[in-house]
Formats: sequence, C-alpha cells, structure tokens
Amino acid sequence: MKKVVLLALALCAALPLLADEGMWLPNLIARRIDDMGAKGCRLSAEDIYSINKASLKDAVVLFGSGCTGELVSPQGLLFTNHHCGYGYIQRHSSVEHDYLKDGFWAMSREEELPNPGLTVSFLERMEDVTDVVLYGWEPSMGEVARDSVARANSQRLEKEIAEPSKGIRASVEALYHANQYYLFVYRIYRDVRLVGAPPSSIGKFGGDTDNWMWPRHTGDFSIFRIYADADGNPADYSPDNVPYRPKKFFSISKEGVKEGDFTFVYGCPGSTREYVHSEEVRYIGEVSDPQKIALRTLRLDIQKKYMSQSQAVRIQYSAKNASVANAWKKWQGESRGVQRLGTVEAKRAYEKRLSAWAAGGPYDGLVERLGALYQKREPYYLAYEYFNETVRSIELLSLAWRVYGLLERGIDDGVAVRSFFKDYYEPIDKETFVALLEAFRTKMPQQFQPEYFKEQVAAAGSVQALADDIYSRSMFTSCEVAASLGVEDMPKVVADPAYQLYAAFFDWLQEDIMPVLREVEGELRTANRLYMKAQMEFEPEREFYPDANLTLRVAYGNVAGYSPADAVYYTPVTTLKGIIEKDNPDIFDYNIPQTLRDIYAAGGHEDQPVCFLATNHTTGGNSGSPVLNADGLLVGINFDRVWEGTMSDLQFDPCYCRNISLDVRYLLFIIKQIGHAEWLFSEMVIK
Ligand code: ARG
Ligand code: GLU
Repeated sequence: MKKVVLLALALCAALPLLADEGMWLPNLIARRIDDMGAKGCRLSAEDIYSINKASLKDAVVLFGSGCTGELVSPQGLLFTNHHCGYGYIQRHSSVEHDYLKDGFWAMSREEELPNPGLTVSFLERMEDVTDVVLYGWEPSMGEVARDSVARANSQRLEKEIAEPSKGIRASVEALYHANQYYLFVYRIYRDVRLVGAPPSSIGKFGGDTDNWMWPRHTGDFSIFRIYADADGNPADYSPDNVPYRPKKFFSISKEGVKEGDFTFVYGCPGSTREYVHSEEVRYIGEVSDPQKIALRTLRLDIQKKYMSQSQAVRIQYSAKNASVANAWKKWQGESRGVQRLGTVEAKRAYEKRLSAWAAGGPYDGLVERLGALYQKREPYYLAYEYFNETVRSIELLSLAWRVYGLLERGIDDGVAVRSFFKDYYEPIDKETFVALLEAFRTKMPQQFQPEYFKEQVAAAGSVQALADDIYSRSMFTSCEVAASLGVEDMPKVVADPAYQLYAAFFDWLQEDIMPVLREVEGELRTANRLYMKAQMEFEPEREFYPDANLTLRVAYGNVAGYSPADAVYYTPVTTLKGIIEKDNPDIFDYNIPQTLRDIYAAGGHEDQPVCFLATNHTTGGNSGSPVLNADGLLVGINFDRVWEGTMSDLQFDPCYCRNISLDVRYLLFIIKQIGHAEWLFSEMVIK
C-alpha cells in the first residue's frame, strides 16, 4: 500500500507535466519509443507501426463511426465495448429475444448475426501530404485562399486514391490546427457480425450511477467478427463470405496488470483542444459547461421523477436519460478540473510570455486578436448552445420540425412518428418545455431572444401558460394524427403552434446568430492556425502532439491509482468481490444475474479482476481501444475516464487523469461462466 501511494504522489510531483500526456501519431512513434522504454515498454517502433511488415496497427480498427475495436484471432474476431455495440445488440432484440437484457452468445459461426450499416475501418497507411495539399498556394495569396486551395487539393487526392470497389477510402485530415495535413488510407469492411454480448446487467453494470466513476465494475465489452469475400476483400453481407484473416491480431495476456505496470492504448480519440487560447478555456469551464450542466440538471430531475414512478417510463427514457447524463457528468469533471488546475491563469501567463516574444514579428498582436475574437464570439456561441440544449431538446417541438422536413421530402409513411411515440411520455416533455424555456427566458439577454417567443410568452402570460396552450392545441401530441399527416397537410403543419415556435427559433438562429458566428469562427480558424504555429516556434524544444481528430493514436502510461479528494486514495484494480458488494436486486443498475451470484457463492472467484486504472491520455472515441502491456499483449479494453480527470481534453493532469479499462481476464471469465461460449477460446492466443 505504501508503494502504491508513493507512485501516485510521484506522478503528481512530476510537474511540469508531460508525464503520460499525449496522443501520438503511430507513424512517428520512433520519437517516443525511448520514453516508452523508460516507462517499461519492450517493443520497437517498428512493432507498433510499420509500412513494411505487419505491425500492431493492423490489429486496430475504427469501429462504426466513433469507437475503436481490436482483432483477437486469425479468424477476424473483434472486441469492442458493450456501449459501442449497444445499438446493434438492441436492433436484434425483441420481447422474445431480449439480447440487451439477457445477453447474446453465438454457439457457432452460423449463429452470428449480421449488422447492416456497421463497418470497421483498417488503416492501411498514413503520411504527411502538406506539400501536396498546399500546392499552388503561397502566403501572399492570403488565408482564405489557403483554405480553398487545401480543400480542392485534398478532394482531388482523396478521389485519386479511393478505390470504392476494393473498399479503399482516402481521407485528408488537418493536424495542428491545419498547419499540417495527413493522408489516411482506410480499407473498410462492411460484413461485421455480432458474436457475443453479456447481459446489460454485466455490460452496463453500475449504469449512469457509476458512469465516469471509480471504483468501477462494468463488463463493458461485446464481440464481433469481420467477414470478407473469398479473396479477403470487403464485401456486402453474403452467407458465402468467410471470416477475414487479419494481417495481425492481438494475443491475450492472462498475466494481467498490477500497479506501476506499463500500458499503452492504441485507438481513435475523437477530439481535444489542448493548444487553444485562455479565452476558449474560460468560456468552456466557466460559462458553457456550468450553463449546460444547469440546463441538463433540470431535464434529468424531471426524467428521474417520472422514471422512478413507472417501469414503462423508465424503459422509454433509459437511453435518452443515459445520453443526457453522460455529457452532464463529463462537463462537471471538466469544469471543476480546469478550475482546480488554474488552466485559464496558466494560459494567460503563457500568452503574456508568448506575446512579448512575438512583438515586432509576424505574430505580433495575435494573442490579443484571439482574445478579442473569442469575446466577440461568446454571446453568439452561447445563444447557439442554448438553442441546442433547450429548444432542440424539447421533444414535441423537434418532432414537429422533423415531420415538416420529412413531408418536404415526400416521406409520409409515419414510420418516424410511430418510433418517436414508442419512447415518448408527454408529462416529461411538457414539464421539460416549461423548465427549459423558462431558463431561456431568464438567462438569455433580451437582444438574444426571438421576438416571436417574447410575444407568445407575453400573450399567454407565462411559459407555463404557453406550454398549456401548445400541448393542448398541437396535433403533434397525438401519434395517430401526426403519423397520418400527408404531403397535402403541410399547410396544417406550418400552422401548428409547436411547429411555429420551433420555426421561429430556427429563423432567429439563422438570421440573428449564425451569420456573425460563422464569420467569427472563420477568423478564429485562421487565427488558431497561426497561434499553433507561433507556439511551436516559441517552444522549439517541446514535442507537440496533434489534437485528437478520430485518427489513430498511441497513448502510454502506467497502471496507477489516484487521490480524488483529501484523505481518499483509490487503488487501481477492482475485483468480483466489489460487484457482490454493490449487488442489489432492488436497484436496476446493480442487479446482477443470479448465475453470477451463484458462481461467486460457490467460492474461488473473490479476486477475479474486473477493471483497472492507468495514466493513459484518452478521450471519447477511445472506447473499445486495446490496452496493451509492455510486450504488446492485450491486457484490457478501454471504456471510460474518471470524471475528475475529464479536463484532459483541455489540459492533462497526471494527478487526476486516469483511463478506465476492462481487465481482459474478466471478459474471458464472462465468456466462460455466463456465455458458456468456450468455443471462442480455441481461436484466440492466450498466454
Ligand atoms: N462514459 C463513457 C463514455 O463516454 C461510457 C458511456 C456509456 N453510457 C452510459 N450512459 N453509461 O462515453
Ligand atoms: N466512453 C467514452 C467513449 O465512448 C470514452 C470515455 C472518454 O474517455 O471520454 O469513447
């Protein structure tokens, strides 16, 4: 225990930062390999990424459009998170076969389930194409021309390289705020079948109560298999397709991890903003996050009240509630995190130094200009965010708007309306309408409120009275009426009070907010590009990693606990014992399958590891990423961060930032004990 605490303290003392901070480009990993070695890694840069031979990168995929997955057998078997496979598992579920609730285990290849629309993307290669992308542009042409030249060249390059018949897609991505451009060539497979998923009571154990939290005991995995045509090429689903034979797959370690062990995460982090001006961080941490948290607290309280009263409503709102709660909790950690770290003050001090250095040169005044641009943007951007978090989040108003859009395109089959009503409970929505628009009315400055809205509230007397009026008169409160609307009914839709209110807000957004916002954002893009460049010249010795943009990255660190608060220390490994401690048949999130209770009661599994913490720098999109040990063996699957460290999207702090991984041995345990799908083990390499 003493050693454990010492390690965490050592990490905290290791300021100035950069300890374990960074999401590195795999093709440049040679620049980090010595540091990785010093932390315990035994691999070479070529093992991790190579253009000449199969390397670990060939076993990592972008799963769908926002998660990561990894190959674990020569037969195309793939692991990702349960929450990444959730939608697909749900689509196969019915009352008779509730795979979400009961889990799903194919007992042979024939039983694996196809998932139309699901793809996995292998990265074939990546390379710096800045010269090609900027060909024909020179500084004298200006920054606007730079963008259009870059866009045209990128599109041409992407088209040249793409081979749709072979599933090859090329994409040019901007790095370092578009100071650099990289080409990514992907091979995309589209016959991906569901092989296994634990019951949600394991795969989502702890639900939103434990989400973003430690100690964590979620068995957040699902298993898929990639299929290809007889030549190994991507193909549409066909019973004749065969399991894809990957160039590389991960062997699984049954050794597990302990405090201090080296680990790295190989995956596709979605988005970070590490190099932005203090004003952007101030806005996020002090304005945007707190306001959005407050708005979502209103929604969550209303949902909770009704969900606790009715089982049916709880089911209807579980997915909506989960997604509202997910960001809500993340923002709390982020906002508190930047405050605790003093990110804004630290950035201001840095900007002062940079500004002094820049005097008289090409970046003279840039810091100040950025600050002014952010200030100009703020009220408009806040109004835009308010629109999203209020008007767009009121279900009745959004439905009216959506139906209008469908009718406009000639779609009047009522399918969307019926699926909307399956999960709609009017009392929740109406109360949400009142709470959110009351917040809009009182929080948004008068000049940032649509006239129509002000008039309607004045005419009705209050937001509550306006809600009473709209919810009693709108035809969108009735499933039958709304579903039966045809193209000829568009005039009726336009006259509907729910449609009218949404449309008024929408027009206001388009006319009063977006023109200024678009212009400022354009100027900010250019200024941020220069600012990034200035920072790299200001600190020529510093290794800058590019902000995340869903392209493949390597993050590395060590297994470590942390201290979330005074006098509290969290150790980094959880076990089955903790699941039994949390088990409670009366609480949905903690009600485990009886089989798991029985297995535990039979004895011998108290120390079965479940999840672990490490210092790897990850973000959304890293879900499902392989977590590898010093020899490149799979030890875990990344699925979350601790909420006290979610400001790592803006600034990484080695004291608080921890990624949460599923211990791969728990996955093996569940396959065997709950799924009885041991047939899968024969194709894995477990050592
Ligand atoms: N917090 C994790 C990630 O962003 C897991 C989300 C799973 N959803 C949930 N509501 N528990 O996205
Ligand atoms: N659960 C997140 C995802 O879906 C990962 C958590 C995070 O680090 O943001 O990618």
